[in-house]
Amino acid sequence: VSLTRDAARALDAADPLRACRDRFRLPDGLIYLDGNSLGALPEATVERQREVVEEEWGEELIRSWNSRGWIEAPQRVGARIAGLIGARPHEVIVADSVSVNLFKLILAAAALSPDRPVLLSEAGNFHTDLHVASGAAEVARLRLDIAPREAIAGRLGTDTNLLLLTHVHYKTGARFDMAALTARAKAAGARTLWDLSHSAGAVPLDLNGAGAELAVGCGYKYLNGGPGAPAFLYVAEHLQERLVSPLRGWMGHAAPFAFTDDYVPAPGIARFLAGTPPILSLIALESGIATFDGVGMDAIWAKSVKLFDAFLALVEERCAGHGLECISPRDPEQRGSHISFRHPNAFELCQALIAQGVIGDFRAPDVVRFGLTPLYVGFEDLFVCVERIRDILETGRWREPRFAVRGKVT
Ligand SMILES: Cc1ncc(COP(=O)(O)O)c(C=O)c1O
Repeated sequence: VSLTRDAARALDAADPLRACRDRFRLPDGLIYLDGNSLGALPEATVERQREVVEEEWGEELIRSWNSRGWIEAPQRVGARIAGLIGARPHEVIVADSVSVNLFKLILAAAALSPDRPVLLSEAGNFHTDLHVASGAAEVARLRLDIAPREAIAGRLGTDTNLLLLTHVHYKTGARFDMAALTARAKAAGARTLWDLSHSAGAVPLDLNGAGAELAVGCGYKYLNGGPGAPAFLYVAEHLQERLVSPLRGWMGHAAPFAFTDDYVPAPGIARFLAGTPPILSLIALESGIATFDGVGMDAIWAKSVKLFDAFLALVEERCAGHGLECISPRDPEQRGSHISFRHPNAFELCQALIAQGVIGDFRAPDVVRFGLTPLYVGFEDLFVCVERIRDILETGRWREPRFAVRGKVT
């Protein structure tokens, strides 16, 4: 049997992460279930951004590159992300977007094994991954092989250069077994590049333990870095000196301020920087990551599992017969931290929910997604969300013409 509202309240009252909600500024009465797309605003970001703008930029001006540690921010913030993903501090750096980081790592990895012509990825992977892969494949003269999920392991062979996978699927939330697939690829002599956009800050990760060599991930989702926050990039220590970025910018140079004509890559992960880091956004990302301070990923994940199970039980009981089909895996080991449902009117349902103060999102063609971010989502939120879904479907209110209007961003 699913939760009653009182039982949901009791779970919230007993929740060890309950106080973390105060680390965020969320409008009163709004239920925000889209932190897998854009994380909520951390309370500390507001004051810290004011300080960076008014003091560091406004008063200290260009001196802040040294005096306020701006120049080390990509490494410093990367090291904090490393702590969340099971990497060593010097293996992660913050730079560019996921799309750009994918391009850099695909080309760098391709050059390591010029005798292996295939770049392998998954059909239905996040589209930017496939788009970037197609461009990078053209530049590196690789053949892009896009296989259905079940066929991927079987396609690994002596011709595979790189396996490019998104660890937690953006639509279904299905999660690959990172250690197992990385090992399968290694056994075939191939490298693996993981996109952790829906994993970092969402599920427990142990990149070093899984033998992962290359990864990228998003700063604006579970890491709460703000709209368009820079992304991160991971290269295992043993590979760092062997890889060279195809985007040879001055910030990735061994001595950017020597102003030499020749390119000499910086030692270690810094060679994956290209241009000047976006300091305001980097500092916002640093504030976002600080919302995880003192909270273990295990505690976050334990709550995520409970939130998912509670949500699913509520939907199955209270919305039965309304055509919602859960497409996320039921086994916690095989999923991420969002729950998705197929529904023929998913777009309109999502818009009607937003009009009622519950923000989830829609993914074409027929999926409605809800992000379960344990730092600021509670059980009563889910109860209210499911009640509103039921009401909208029962009354048919989603049919109102205004809910069919599609913006540029869906
Ligand atoms: C799996 C995945 N990769 C990449 C991205 C986008 O990356 P970026 O906008 O930083 O290029 C997203 C955004 O939703 C995503 O879900």
